[in-house]
Amino acid sequence: MSIVKEVLSGKLMIMINDIIIAIDGHSGCGKSTTAKKVAEYLNYSYLDSGAMYRSVTLYLYRNEIHYEELNNIVKALENINISFKYVDGEQNTFLNEENVEREIRSEKISDLVSKYSSIPEIRKFLVHRQKELGKDKKIVVEGRDITTVVFPNAEIKVFMTANIEIRAKRRFEDMKRNHPEITFSDVMKNLEERDVKDSTRKDSPLLLTEDAITIDTSDLEIEDQVKKIIDIIEAKFS
Ligand code: DC
Repeated sequence: MSIVKEVLSGKLMIMINDIIIAIDGHSGCGKSTTAKKVAEYLNYSYLDSGAMYRSVTLYLYRNEIHYEELNNIVKALENINISFKYVDGEQNTFLNEENVEREIRSEKISDLVSKYSSIPEIRKFLVHRQKELGKDKKIVVEGRDITTVVFPNAEIKVFMTANIEIRAKRRFEDMKRNHPEITFSDVMKNLEERDVKDSTRKDSPLLLTEDAITIDTSDLEIEDQVKKIIDIIEAKFS
């Protein structure tokens, strides 16, 4: 695979053939921001699979469908369409044409999402959609089961992690802008619970595969994280 380096709009971009970059990792270690920037840098699309689990959770919560009501969940999935569109230069998540970008990040949804995302029927529904969105490659996809289940043959696999206090601090700083009621201990508790649930659920838990490269972001700035991934791509294909 060839890499042609070009200077585009004053910054060095790398042009590569069509590949999939799969990123898994713990909540709050900077996966989304890093993945978005890597995608921008490569002129690739970006898929936030967590936003899809959050959107399904929001739909079921609004319709008062409890996570134990499997038949109702399966029926409800037929009415759920999730898409992504750019709004003011930022990719936003749409649930049946409604922009839910802000609501899916609320504390309520963060608390509920691990429960719903452990349900195999919901995972099957979303994995199918994710595979469809990535069928033409040229995409950076991030989540918990991307390197293992959604794109096990991705050309680049990265596993991101970081110290939990640092993750909680970053997420708290991030969330308090849109959700001023939130406290640091709420965020910490939510991350701890989600770490356990995401890593121990039966269906597609968060796992580090042998062919994934681990990046510990505890002491890294976003730009360093982006650079590490670009270095991994360059090392593999140059
Ligand atoms: O990346 P995030 O924190 O927005 O994800 C929200 C939740 O969705 C996370 O706690 C677990 C679930 N999730 C998942 O089970 N599989 C994925 N590929 C992505 C997210």
